[in-house]
Amino acid sequence: MPNRLIVLSNRIPTDGPPSGGLVVALHELLAERGGLWIGSSGTFAETPGEELQPVPTVDGYDKATFDLTAQEHEDFYLGYANSVLWPLCHHRTDLLALDRRYAAAYDTVNARVARMLAKVIGPDDLVWVHDYHFLPIAYELRRLNVTARIGLFLHIPFPTSPDLMALPEQKEFFHWLAAFDLVGLQTEADVARCLSGFREQREGELLLNGRVKFGPRVFQVRSFPIGIDGAAFRDLAERDAPLDPLHLGKNTRLAIGVDRLDYSKGLPQRIKGFARWLETRKPGTDRATLLQITPPSREAVEAYQEITTELETLTGRTNGQFGEIDWTPVRLIENGVPREVLAPLYRRADLALVTPLADGMNLVAKEFVAAQDAEDPGVLILSNAAGAAEQMVDALIVNAHDADEISEAIERALTMPLTERKARHAALMKVVEDTDIATWGASYIDCLRTSGEGGGTSS
Ligand code: G6P
Repeated sequence: MPNRLIVLSNRIPTDGPPSGGLVVALHELLAERGGLWIGSSGTFAETPGEELQPVPTVDGYDKATFDLTAQEHEDFYLGYANSVLWPLCHHRTDLLALDRRYAAAYDTVNARVARMLAKVIGPDDLVWVHDYHFLPIAYELRRLNVTARIGLFLHIPFPTSPDLMALPEQKEFFHWLAAFDLVGLQTEADVARCLSGFREQREGELLLNGRVKFGPRVFQVRSFPIGIDGAAFRDLAERDAPLDPLHLGKNTRLAIGVDRLDYSKGLPQRIKGFARWLETRKPGTDRATLLQITPPSREAVEAYQEITTELETLTGRTNGQFGEIDWTPVRLIENGVPREVLAPLYRRADLALVTPLADGMNLVAKEFVAAQDAEDPGVLILSNAAGAAEQMVDALIVNAHDADEISEAIERALTMPLTERKARHAALMKVVEDTDIATWGASYIDCLRTSGEGGGTSS
């Protein structure tokens, strides 16, 4: 009998089939293994509840949700999660909105969710917590005497020690993490930052193989680079699509960017890099259009409003300066595009610009590679600050802050000989296949299952 899997994430698909990378992956994992997925309902309650609400499902596993109050949504989700932890982990301490109310709501919500979870967790269950919304969950569950094995997977970068000094709760931060049995991170660089953070703590001692002793607890820190279902994405990309849905015209190449509208994604820097290429383009050579698909995100947070304005201004300026009657160099779309439309667009594109300033992994990089025609593939331009760069070394790796580097990489991609494009693509495709999403889920669960007995002092 496999141990029951209980997944906790802030987002959970509640109506209809799931869409979007992580949600699809967790859905498939649970559909195969069975288990229980718990997440926030997305609807607001008048008063905080103390019971999980079961969600009717035909998916082959159980689902349950909890409600937040409108105030909790503001202080826990928009506040501590997305105006404190998100900028902290993405190297933007200048954007930290420190507010005692946010920290209090983060504690309150985590303690309440822990109380609800404690009622359903059995001693042999494996509890898999996702992301920065629930860092204190294991700590709270241990206080409620839950001894089951509890693992965290942090989808975003682990913060640097100097950045962590800006967090008023930095001491608690390490206590929160040490209450898990397994702390899974995206990259080796994340693991190194996490271990060095623990080494700097008075109670912290590094053991062998990523194991950490912290006070009476021993737990493990390991990287599990997340992947995609490459074969499924390639099938989507190969489906019949209009040859030129963009009506780009002759001699116009396609560059594509797909990102949530977030300041960590390097969008203004990307437009500036593209504008630099437009400026240096030799007369009579091919044109290129950058199709930038950027669904809005966390719009109530001021930093997100500012980045939207900056992106729109730069796009307008670039099109004004370099546009021609029959050519709009940057097409900015501030709406989501369904995956079945996106996948053929990736395949059609000559190059992708994946240039975040900080990013846990970035699955767009992997989806773009999976979508390509291996006989005539497009070129991936990838920021050295994306977690994916640790594995995808055959991309054109750039410094996302440097407009000249981006511009040179665009030129190089557009003029790259077919043999080099094919060789780079084959090497990248191997990475996508070797680290696919099923392997990621199975290896995490296996590691959690065999981690020291939960709840105490394993050695
Ligand atoms: C990142 C985070 C996820 C989050 C997603 C969308 O990928 O790692 O935890 O769900 O962004 O952000 P949102 O705030 O809309 O859930």
